[in-house]
Amino acid sequence: MAAAAAGVSATTGDKKWERVIMVTGGAGFIASHVVILLVKKYPTYKIINYDKLDYCSSLKNLECVEDYPNYEFVHGDILAADLVNFVIRKENVDTIMHFAAQTHVDNSFGNSLTFTRNNVLGTHSLLEAAKANRARVSRFIHVSTDEVYGEGSSGEPSHEGTEMDPTNPYSASKAGAEHLVTAYRRSFDLPIIITRGNNVYGPHQFPEKIVPKFIAQISRGRKLTLHGTGTNTRNYLFVEDVARAFDVILHKGEIGGVYNIGGDNERSNLEVAKTLLAAMGVIPDPDVDADATAKHITFVSDRPFNDLRYPLDCKRLAALGWTEEVSFTDGIARTIEWYKTNSGNWGDIESAIVAHPRRGNLTTEVTEGKAPSKAITDDETAVEPASTPTAAAAAAKTT
Ligand SMILES: NC(=O)c1ccc[n+]([C@@H]2O[C@H](COP(=O)([O-])OP(=O)(O)OC[C@H]3O[C@@H](n4cnc5c(N)ncnc54)[C@H](O)[C@@H]3O)[C@@H](O)[C@H]2O)c1
Repeated sequence: MAAAAAGVSATTGDKKWERVIMVTGGAGFIASHVVILLVKKYPTYKIINYDKLDYCSSLKNLECVEDYPNYEFVHGDILAADLVNFVIRKENVDTIMHFAAQTHVDNSFGNSLTFTRNNVLGTHSLLEAAKANRARVSRFIHVSTDEVYGEGSSGEPSHEGTEMDPTNPYSASKAGAEHLVTAYRRSFDLPIIITRGNNVYGPHQFPEKIVPKFIAQISRGRKLTLHGTGTNTRNYLFVEDVARAFDVILHKGEIGGVYNIGGDNERSNLEVAKTLLAAMGVIPDPDVDADATAKHITFVSDRPFNDLRYPLDCKRLAALGWTEEVSFTDGIARTIEWYKTNSGNWGDIESAIVAHPRRGNLTTEVTEGKAPSKAITDDETAVEPASTPTAAAAAAKTT
């Protein structure tokens, strides 16, 4: 347990915290790192993790801070307006950092209404709570994504003034939420800051996303399921760098500002696969040994729409003093190491590590909060002839 800062009592009732921050979605991937950073670095701040504990979350992510006197977990849905209001008033919340969302693009092609409910309606509900508590709330950081820009067909990096052009139900729900956030800034003068980040990887990420999914597939001796031709690229940021970016934006970000969060690790999905095959000791040099690489890869049907890339212009965040510090090589090594001992944090992940998890089950069952009974398997989505060794080897050569 950490000692509280001098002059700050360990009980909630009589305490005068310098700042009280409610982090929504704090039991998920990125926000758990933000919570840990803030709890440890700022003992005079109280950090409230408000999370409904959906399938992708784990309170194990927060074990290292759960006994800190300036940390508290509240189990709740952002759509529960009464509870959100109660927490804001009881704890005197002055800052909201809003991460909670449905986040997996693949899921959004199947059960997209849950994305609208959580991401759009959930954000709207939170904005209403902030509006009702405008006298208390002096900062509301809304966490959005680079995906709202769409695939940036001009080839130029998207800057914060670039028009939003989302192409899938997930990014559309994030863009919808952003419009509400911006409207509440204009109509009610809410103290909003918006962030739009590149792909994040690292410890605590539920294994439906590419890096931990590939790690899990390799650990089980399975083939890596690459969508389409594997040539779509994403820029990857290590999660601790991203947590530092939120610390910087929390303290130096300008109210009304939008901040892209991006870096210099653009990789195709195929390159990510090769990096992991090498780093986990399966193939020493996948670029040299294309035939061996091909044996560990299966090309599966692509997403209904798959943005090619999301280049970002991040000068505005750089001007606040943030730069990324963790190289892709180091970040991947640390991530692999973490999953060696923590991959059981979410229980049975079998339905998450297939090619297109939880897809297409909107009409058959409500999937939110529990594992789906049916997931699309690799066999159902594998595409011939690219998945044959020869074709895969040819594709594996093109990086
Ligand atoms: N992961 C990325 O690469 C990435 C990149 C850019 C932006 N983002 C954004 O960052 C945020 C966090 O992403 P992540 O990947 O860490 O998410 P995640 O899927 O790992 O976690 C989301 C968390 O939100 C909680 N949650 C969902 N709906 C909720 C609700 N209605 N009420 C309360 N809690 C709820 C879940 O229980 C979970 O703990 C999201 O807003 C996402 O759009 C993510």
